[in-house]
Amino acid sequence: MNFKTITIHLIAAARPNFMKIAPLYHALKKEKWADTIIVHTGQHYDLNMSDAFFKDLNLPEPDIHLGVGSGTHAEQTGQVMIEYEKVLLEHRPDMVIVVGDVNSTIACTLAATKVTYDLPHHSRGLRPLVAHLEAGLRSFDRTMPEEINRLVTDSLSDILWTPSPDGDENLKREGISEDKIIRVGNIMIDSLEMFREKIEKKAVYKEFGLKKHEYGLITLHRPSNVDEQNKLKTLCQLLCRIAGKIPLIFPIHPRTRKNLINYGLINVLNGFGKIVLLEPLSYVPFMNLVFNCSLVITDSGGIQEETSYLGIPCLTLRSNTERPVTIIQGTNQLCEISDIVMKVDKILSNNICLGSQIEFWDGKTAARIVESIEARINC
Ligand code: UD1
Repeated sequence: MNFKTITIHLIAAARPNFMKIAPLYHALKKEKWADTIIVHTGQHYDLNMSDAFFKDLNLPEPDIHLGVGSGTHAEQTGQVMIEYEKVLLEHRPDMVIVVGDVNSTIACTLAATKVTYDLPHHSRGLRPLVAHLEAGLRSFDRTMPEEINRLVTDSLSDILWTPSPDGDENLKREGISEDKIIRVGNIMIDSLEMFREKIEKKAVYKEFGLKKHEYGLITLHRPSNVDEQNKLKTLCQLLCRIAGKIPLIFPIHPRTRKNLINYGLINVLNGFGKIVLLEPLSYVPFMNLVFNCSLVITDSGGIQEETSYLGIPCLTLRSNTERPVTIIQGTNQLCEISDIVMKVDKILSNNICLGSQIEFWDGKTAARIVESIEARINC
């Protein structure tokens, strides 16, 4: 093809982003017309929250590291904007791809849509094209920082790659022009399929003396579940009750660990032999635990999708989800904290859950994105 090379920035920031950029990075790398640069904002910086994922997902070291780190929402967002604007002005990418809904997603979108290149004949005009991957998801809950990040990112982006029809509908309802919306599917399923062999080779549960399909997996990090002392205490007590029925594995997010320690709750869980407490795991061992567990209790976004695809029952400890397709077509259920023991009992007594075929959740999303970029630069 007779394209000139375009420079694409892929923004990586926090744990849930890495498995979204990996398949796209690998697909773009094969294209002669794309010069793909990974920009890591540094929102997640611990070895086990970031570097280990790059290794598991066969990603190279980021080309550019903004080194921003933690802070309040305004501090983190502002700092990413300040640092990324400098990079934009120096590197002048043609396209910026942001993924998901974390603070760095909104920050890089704001920086890239407001920057002005001072080259009069820049190939793509005065600023880069901004594309949002995983666009259109809405929880309709504006107390979630991620919802604000989604709304702003989608309203500013030039290209909106959605995972499911509800995403398209949400964007249209918000008055976004239809020609910006392209349904490409769920990129996380690409990662899962790309690394399936590596994932299936392991048997991580054996390290803890557990058996296949005879344990539950827990992940918790949402402020609404883990920041308030009494709520977290109740949650710990209920997890201990569940562990009396089925052993649990709990890789603990840094936010949650900090709070468990500060509130003196870590010992409630620690003293309970059937809950295996771990540091956060990287992609392959974590997915191996998902593949082989009998149920998941979580407040994560992505795990609702992965369990739906794999046919594993998932209880989501939230009052809403931006991923309704996982409830309608998948294996996900929203769950009040007070109901979790009852719902776990139901799952354990009736452990039939079928994997779900959701359109475009097929491991070919990165290829559809590459096609959509080609079509865009070709016109
Ligand atoms: C962020 C995202 C959330 C995503 C989650 C997955 C936002 C608003 N939130 O939440 O959407 O689901 O990541 O993990 O962007 N910390 C460490 N080491 C790290 C990263 C964080 O110790 O590598 C600590 C921070 O100091 C902070 C806490 O964990 O105290 C929370 O980190 P932060 O990035 O603010 O938000 P998350 O809760 O991780």
